[in-house]
Amino acid sequence: MQLLDGKVISERLKVRIAEESAQLLSSIGRKPHLAAILVGNDGGSETYVASKIKNCEKVGFTSSLFRYDGSVTERELLDKIEEVNNDDDVDGLIVQLPLPKHIDPEKVTEKISYKKDVDGFHPLNLGRMVRNLPCFIPATPYGILMMLEEYQIDTVGKSCVIVGRSNIVGSPMSILMSRNDCPGNCTVTLTHSKTKNLKDIVLSADIIVAAIGRKHFITADMVKEGAVVIDVGINREASAVTKSGFKLYGDVDFDMVAPKASWITPVPGGIGLMTIVGLLKNTLASARRDIYP
Ligand code: GUN
Repeated sequence: MQLLDGKVISERLKVRIAEESAQLLSSIGRKPHLAAILVGNDGGSETYVASKIKNCEKVGFTSSLFRYDGSVTERELLDKIEEVNNDDDVDGLIVQLPLPKHIDPEKVTEKISYKKDVDGFHPLNLGRMVRNLPCFIPATPYGILMMLEEYQIDTVGKSCVIVGRSNIVGSPMSILMSRNDCPGNCTVTLTHSKTKNLKDIVLSADIIVAAIGRKHFITADMVKEGAVVIDVGINREASAVTKSGFKLYGDVDFDMVAPKASWITPVPGGIGLMTIVGLLKNTLASARRDIYP
């Protein structure tokens, strides 16, 4: 078993992003700028957004954080998005999900200018991704692709089984792994909560992408000898023994599955770190007007 090490790869890629950000500053006199909107006090969302902001600093980007109480109205939020859309100094805008129940995430997602949609969630970016046109690719799938690329994992003609069909990970990942690109060219099976014979299907996979959001859902008896295992799960549980007061668990039972895998991502220290890199890459591309000139 070999580790797909998110810490090593993300640090390496962030050095490159910092260099390119510095080049942009010297050529056009400005830094890439990411704006983030955070609503409410969800512990996970707080941690992720704090990490996004910290990493912006690390690579020499400007960042802005707009925080709202959970009682903010949908109208107020949409107005703020409009304001940031019109701010020429901002290159990328994300609204951290999930949102409180009284706010429609579809309205929020569509309100963000597709030109600043560095999460890649806007229907226009998703549509362009399906058609293999230049677009912002959702940060987590983008991070997974970069991980596969950095380790030169051969994906051509392999069977890739994705567990989970979320808009953020499973669904876009199924498109990206099946398209004629590198990484890509897989025969993809997208599985979900209604899939029959899930164990047998996962057992047939050369590449498993676990994105179901359930602690240790993928067990050793579901994994073929030599499979590549990508764990997207970040399941938080309260813990009395960690300093932070919680502990993270993947969707894969790492200790039992690792001996069977050829390559495997750990949690933490795997895809979570690569998601940040995906977001930073999209923000840099936006600042350079690489995708939408
Ligand atoms: N919630 C979970 N993952 C993400 C993400 O990648 N972007 C945003 N905006 N919210 C999330």
